[in-house]
Amino acid sequence: MQNRLSQLIKEDGRCFFLAMDHGYFLGPTRKLERPGEMIAPLMPYVDALFVTRGVLRATINASASKPIILRVSGGTSIVGHDLANEGITTSVREVIRLNASAVGLSVFVGSDYERQTLLSLSTLVNECQEYGIPVMAVTAVGKELEKRDARYLSLCCRIAAELGANVVKTYWCEDFEKVTESCPVPVVIAGGPKCETQLEVLEFVSDGLQRGAIGVNLGRNVWQDDHPVAAARALQALIHEQATPQQANDVYLSLRNGSG
Ligand code: 5RP
Repeated sequence: MQNRLSQLIKEDGRCFFLAMDHGYFLGPTRKLERPGEMIAPLMPYVDALFVTRGVLRATINASASKPIILRVSGGTSIVGHDLANEGITTSVREVIRLNASAVGLSVFVGSDYERQTLLSLSTLVNECQEYGIPVMAVTAVGKELEKRDARYLSLCCRIAAELGANVVKTYWCEDFEKVTESCPVPVVIAGGPKCETQLEVLEFVSDGLQRGAIGVNLGRNVWQDDHPVAAARALQALIHEQATPQQANDVYLSLRNGSG
C-alpha cells in the first residue's frame, strides 16, 4: 500500500493527477476525442493518470512508466436517467493485471444511489486492501454542480474516509479548510468545468493547497485549454515548485507565447 501511494504522492507530499476518465460517461468529450494524442505530451508534467481500462489498453503505450489510477466505477451516461446509478466496472484481478497503482470510484452522497455507491466503495476497499491497492473516492455531484459547498463536501469526504478510502477527491470550494480538516485522509482537488483563464485555475488550486489539499486531480482545465502543455507545466510549478499563482501564470504565458 505504502509503495503504491508513494508512486502517486511525491516526496514533497504533493501530487498532480491528470484526470482523463471523462469518456466513461460523457463519451467523446471535447478535446479528448483522441485521448492517446492528448496524453503523450502532458506525461512529463504530471505524477499519475486517471483513466479507464479502455483508454489505458487502447491508447497508452505499455512501456510508459507513469503511474495509473484506474477509474473502476461507471455504468451510466450523460444522456441516461441518473448519473448516480453507478456500479463497479473492473475486477481487482484486472486492476492487478493492468499494473495500476490505485483505483478510483465515485460516490453520490445525498442521491437516490447514495447507499449503492457507498457500499460499492466499501466493497472495493475490502478487495483492494487485500492486495495493498489504494482506493481514491471521488465525491461526485452529477449534474448538480451547485451542491459544491463546504458543508456538503466535508460530509461526503468524511463519509468516504470513514468507509476506508485512502485518498478523497473533491471539488474546491470557499472555506476549503472545513473539508480538509475534518477528513482524516489526504484530499485532492478536482477542477470542474473549464475556467475562463488559467490564472483562475491556479488561484483556486493554490487556495486549496494552502487550506490542506495535497494536490489535484484535474482534467478539463488542463486539456481543454488551448495550450494544454503550458497549463500542465504551470500547475506543476504551482504544486511542486512553490510558485505563486502569478509566477505559475507567468510560466503558462511564456510557454503559450513561445518564449518559455
Ligand atoms: C469525472 C471525474 C474527473 O476525474 C474529475 O472530475 C476531474 O476532472 P475535471 O477537472 O475535468 O473536473 O471524476 O467524473
